[in-house]
Amino acid sequence: MNPTGLFISFEGIDGSGKSTQARLLSDALDARGIDTVLTREPGGSPGAEEIRALVLQGDPDRWSAETELLLFTAARRDHLERTIRPALNAGKVVICDRFADSTRMYQGLSRGNLRDTVDTLHDLMIGIEPSITILIDMDPETGLQRAKSRNTAEERFEDFGQGLQDAMRAGFLSLAEEFADRFRVIDGARVPDAVAQDVWAAVSPHLTCHLT
Ligand code: ADP
Ligand code: TYD
Repeated sequence: MNPTGLFISFEGIDGSGKSTQARLLSDALDARGIDTVLTREPGGSPGAEEIRALVLQGDPDRWSAETELLLFTAARRDHLERTIRPALNAGKVVICDRFADSTRMYQGLSRGNLRDTVDTLHDLMIGIEPSITILIDMDPETGLQRAKSRNTAEERFEDFGQGLQDAMRAGFLSLAEEFADRFRVIDGARVPDAVAQDVWAAVSPHLTCHLT
């Protein structure tokens, strides 16, 4: 019989080290022979990856917050239907680099208060939360420096500047209090291996039926 699937998300400001930690966790699970799907948002399925280019490239004012919310939700719905649900149903561990908490922050808070709309659309179209959400906490200045040093075309949100990063850090910390049952806050301002040890300590108690 398949073990039940486990859904884990990583959240945090740009450059906090989410992708690095998601990959290290995925490697650690692979090394133990646990069937793992490492995926990301926006994206994670062919259709959602196409939407990713629309929302992450171009001028910061390319979309209103409302239009953006619809695009991110459309991408998430496709990702859920084609990647996340099938993997969970097959008993796999799904590690997702950002999920709905990012929408609660970036579209819900960044330009006015759209949080109620975000939650309503989430309930209608997505209706699933991760079992564990790892928040990599990091000071916004360092995060932005790290993110900018990557030099990609996907800088639309980074171009909103440090003010947005400050608001997002505070918002993520208060979201961690709101959903204290599933959030674990981890200090990201350390070497990657030290952060990864704390991630493992947070995740491994949930793997009892995978680690046999
Ligand atoms: P995010 O996915 O949160 O934007 P990344 O994992 O892509 O963050 O990391 C952003 C940049 O910072 C990358 O160049 C990465 O190599 C580097 N980085 C990640 N974690 C650390 C760390 N703990 N210390 C120093 N640099 C890091
Ligand atoms: P990501 O590729 O994870 O960027 P980074 O590695 O720099 O953290 O995500 C790109 C941007 O998309 C990021 O600035 C946050 C934004 N975003 C939203 O605005 N809403 C969402 O629902 C998601 C998933 C991401």
